[in-house]
Amino acid sequence: KRYKVWVSRPLFAEALARLDQHVTLDAEAIERVHAPEQLRERLAGVDAAIVSLSDRVDAATLAGNGRLRVIANLAVGYNNLDIEALTRAGVLACNTPDVLNETTADYAWALMLAAARRVGAAERWLRAGHWTGAMRFDDWLGVDLHGKTLGILGMGRIGQAVARRASGFDMRVLYHNRSRLPESIERQCAARWVDQATLLRESDHLVLVLPYTPENHHVIGAAELAQMKRGSVLVNIARGGLVDEAALATALVSGQLAAAGLDVYEDEPAVHPALLELEQVVLSPHMGSASADTRRNMAQLAVDNVLAGLGLGSQAGHPPTPINPQVLHARGVLDKA
Ligand code: GLV
Ligand code: GLV
Repeated sequence: KRYKVWVSRPLFAEALARLDQHVTLDAEAIERVHAPEQLRERLAGVDAAIVSLSDRVDAATLAGNGRLRVIANLAVGYNNLDIEALTRAGVLACNTPDVLNETTADYAWALMLAAARRVGAAERWLRAGHWTGAMRFDDWLGVDLHGKTLGILGMGRIGQAVARRASGFDMRVLYHNRSRLPESIERQCAARWVDQATLLRESDHLVLVLPYTPENHHVIGAAELAQMKRGSVLVNIARGGLVDEAALATALVSGQLAAAGLDVYEDEPAVHPALLELEQVVLSPHMGSASADTRRNMAQLAVDNVLAGLGLGSQAGHPPTPINPQVLHARGVLDKA
């Protein structure tokens, strides 16, 4: 076996077995966050690596590394990777788009419904043994979804999958995206483009599905929360840094927002203490793509990318989902394959 591959976290056995057929495998047996220095050392000794969002790969991590050729991220978002630094170093970076679209869109609805209908708080109340007598008729009043306006900020593949699900709830769907979608896709999604201010003002339920970049850090901050419809619900399944968590807590306490559903946080795994205090927030540990089928598919796609990026297996030289394919051209791998 010519190549060595590091897998930064435990992964499904069938995915590891497929790698093991082609390469010398070094797979972590326990889940952990790797310190930058540790990560640098691990990456220095291998030809390819499968990493996750908690592994931050940048110029410092790559310094002096003349061996690494492929990094496969176990996620569609890749704000943990410095793509420019990887490209400069001639390292192919890959992610796991598309295989998780439908599962992640399902989860956006899970959070939207749970937040609007107070599922988390009600369950905690029941489990605590409080349901002992007659319940008030006006207890546990939530916010309807059906007949309301759904706003989607960021209308990529996942945003579109969220939109398509809205027809069963008889919702009006608005979206904002830097670029407007082709009319045919807008029709499929039954969604209308509006500017961001209109989206904030008119949405009863606002879902964030955009990639995190320095430009959209705190795209939902105090000013934007104030622009939102009073009593509306915010759901974030994208990245924590999109929302100013302290400002969100304030908006929830004041009643400006009725509820929120969060799967991602600014400083994972830390959750802002003010949010932890609030019953009207549904909090989950970054699990939007976590269905058994989809996580298996993501692992297999990462393996496909590593093998193909190293010129091995049935897709040699043609990794299915590269982020910086220019590296392949520079390397001439495509020409050989
Ligand atoms: C998860 O957050 C992902 O980007 O896949
Ligand atoms: C190799 O096992 C491949 O499926 O590419």
